[in-house]
Amino acid sequence: MTGTPLLLVVAAVAWVGHACVWTALLSNLFGRPLPKPFLKAWRLVTAAIILAFLQMCWWLLTHPFTFLDDLRVSRPVWPDPTDALGFGYVGVCLVVGGLVFPAITVLRLTRKPPPCLVSEVTRTRDLWAEFGEPLIGDGKMPFVARLPGNQLFRVDFTETTLALPDLPHEWEGLTLLVVSDVHFHGTPSRLFFDRVIDDVLSGPTPDLVCLIGDYVDTDTHQEWIGPVLGRLSATGAKLAILGNHDKHHHPLQVREALGDAGYAVIGNGVQTLTVRGVPCVVVGHEGPWFVPPPDLTGAPTEPFRLCLSHTPDNFYWGVANQIDLMLCGHVHGGAIRVPVVGSIFVPSIYGRRFDQGVFERAGTVMVVGRGLSGKEPLRFRCNPQVMRITLVRRVTR
Ligand SMILES: [Fe+2]
Repeated sequence: MTGTPLLLVVAAVAWVGHACVWTALLSNLFGRPLPKPFLKAWRLVTAAIILAFLQMCWWLLTHPFTFLDDLRVSRPVWPDPTDALGFGYVGVCLVVGGLVFPAITVLRLTRKPPPCLVSEVTRTRDLWAEFGEPLIGDGKMPFVARLPGNQLFRVDFTETTLALPDLPHEWEGLTLLVVSDVHFHGTPSRLFFDRVIDDVLSGPTPDLVCLIGDYVDTDTHQEWIGPVLGRLSATGAKLAILGNHDKHHHPLQVREALGDAGYAVIGNGVQTLTVRGVPCVVVGHEGPWFVPPPDLTGAPTEPFRLCLSHTPDNFYWGVANQIDLMLCGHVHGGAIRVPVVGSIFVPSIYGRRFDQGVFERAGTVMVVGRGLSGKEPLRFRCNPQVMRITLVRRVTR
């Protein structure tokens, strides 16, 4: 391959690297408790920078770089700082686009399931095929909900079985229903959420119901919490924490609505519950948006520590604090997933690392769900999800 085709390939690889660098930065910033106006503006800046790359390539190709001429006649001189910066950045982009990004993609595709994961079975229900237009509602960006290929209304009901080494004998077969990121704002409509809850209620009652945050995206939709999420029931307890979106819409009212709906709102705190006769330390982690983080000083490590954390970014905190099982949402699986590559933008300081699935490290197991909806009603190759987790004992030798 020579001449123009080679140049196009090199430009394409460099552009992929350029997009990776700026998307990774954007993801990282969105994982932090920064002001919303800044994040919104930075998202636009990032889009502009990514699209402007071809313009930069053109500038590099047409700019008279004197140091190159000097090199050709064997008179090496220190290049102009602007020239060096431009070529250096393109070099970095080529390494990221040609080596780092493909390597990470291969690693993600070949990642082995963690030892704790016994099975995962998903049943998908296409609510759009059943109910159609009335699911759209009157919330933010209903036109996005109508986009062809948007899988906003194809709900995955996932049954996951986890084998945990320190599970109390009494908890063999314990079930947890995990719902996160409902983002009530009108789109999808109440009909969507009511039918999802109907579906959940048609199955066996779980021991615990765990809500992982992001309930509202308006100041008024707290009124949906009781009639929708209040219908869920548990033989043990109903637990809830808040997410980053709730912080902007009267969080005290959100907590009150959850409490009225029968949930123990853990906040950034620690509570000890008795489940099937066994004490369970339940930890809530709403950080970094709500502070201070939970303080586990004096909380027993045995027999079990369960943590509800809105973001999976708290995984290493969970490992350090001897959490046995951590349930997370927030990242929506990336909302848009590309074939082979997977997620692109994930609001996490770790980028795409914890975009969905089960992770295990040093005795801590973390489950990251994709959630049910989003402020932007868009899901591409990334179905909304409700999870039912069954715990069994892992036999260790
Ligand atoms: Fe969310």
